[in-house]
Amino acid sequence: MHNTRELLPGIHWVGGNDRRLNRFENLFPLENGVAYNAYVILDMKTALIDTVDNAISDQFMENVKHVLNGRALDYLVINHMEPDHCGNIVAMIKEYPNLILVGNTKTFQFFDQFYGLDISGRTLLVKDQDRLNLGSHTLKFTTAAMVHWPEVMVTYEETQKILFSADAFGTFGAHSGGLFADETDYLNDYLSETRRYYANIIGKFGPQVQVLMKKLSQDEVKLIAPLHGPLYRGDDLGFIVNKYEQWSTYRPEVNSVLIVYATMYNNTTQAAELLASKLAQQGIKGIKLMDVNATDVSYLIAEVWKYRHIVIATPTYNTDIAVKMHTFLHDLVALNAQNRSVSLITNFSWAGKPAEIVKGYLDQLKNITLIGETVALKSTVKAENDSALSDLASAIVSHLNQP
Ligand code: FEO
Repeated sequence: MHNTRELLPGIHWVGGNDRRLNRFENLFPLENGVAYNAYVILDMKTALIDTVDNAISDQFMENVKHVLNGRALDYLVINHMEPDHCGNIVAMIKEYPNLILVGNTKTFQFFDQFYGLDISGRTLLVKDQDRLNLGSHTLKFTTAAMVHWPEVMVTYEETQKILFSADAFGTFGAHSGGLFADETDYLNDYLSETRRYYANIIGKFGPQVQVLMKKLSQDEVKLIAPLHGPLYRGDDLGFIVNKYEQWSTYRPEVNSVLIVYATMYNNTTQAAELLASKLAQQGIKGIKLMDVNATDVSYLIAEVWKYRHIVIATPTYNTDIAVKMHTFLHDLVALNAQNRSVSLITNFSWAGKPAEIVKGYLDQLKNITLIGETVALKSTVKAENDSALSDLASAIVSHLNQP
């Protein structure tokens, strides 16, 4: 059975959900599946904006056919050639023999790499700011290299002022009835997954997101229609654009402390908890402790994008540091995290240089400020460590009290 929705006159959502997928890109844990959005525009000419993952092909084909209601599909705009969106292009080519694929040079290069199908005579090659008129609707294409792949572009519909934003503004999680953010309990159910999606999928490419935001600032937008998750309209437009401004310029959202810790026998945890308590007693609200061994790294990364100050607390392991702490620190570097203050708590019983190892990663990050002295435990928290933790808490509070 089809499951579609007319978003605005002539603009139809034809996507779907995969509630059985446990890991996005076979990597990122999903708590509530994922949504693949795709859109059909009905006008003198018909256009489909992107397709969906193979996992929901049947639902998608039924949706497209229902909305077209016997009409042919004239254009397929390919904003993104990653398989979670291009998985049904070949099926559409076969279903609609006169279909023209709209993309840029890299789009068709990637199409050939993935599918190796001869599409000569069936393509419309577009460049940045090119337009395609469908009748009363006109599509304007804006290249958005590296948001998230090099071929990405976004499509702006000029009449109804809709931004089909590709991966930008996407969110993990299936739709639960409502498609628009204002139809959901967005702050409770989606925002943290919008942030986790941003930080892990696009976070590395903040400067490229900034370039795109500048290019788009000339156009009034009344609806943001991404490829994953909720759509944004009304007051939510300003909210999500502000979040993207913050995230893409690596500015923290909260003036508080994230403590990422590893522990074997809870001694490092005790130091982390003592520090958190001292910080809370000095007025810091919303402190968060996260165990690297118990938490997928994508959640840690998302919180780094949120918090201003990060405390890294780790014991040694095999004269090195905890393996999953390596993973976390590696991802900070890989995803271009920057512009944060950091403090260290270390612990070892017989050998190791954990502070040096952690600092080796931090040295690769831009604009990192170390706050306070490293609190170096030997096996357990002693009175002198408690005193050092008090000093560290005061140094962190003093830092957070500055603009
Ligand atoms: Fe949702 Fe970059 O693909």
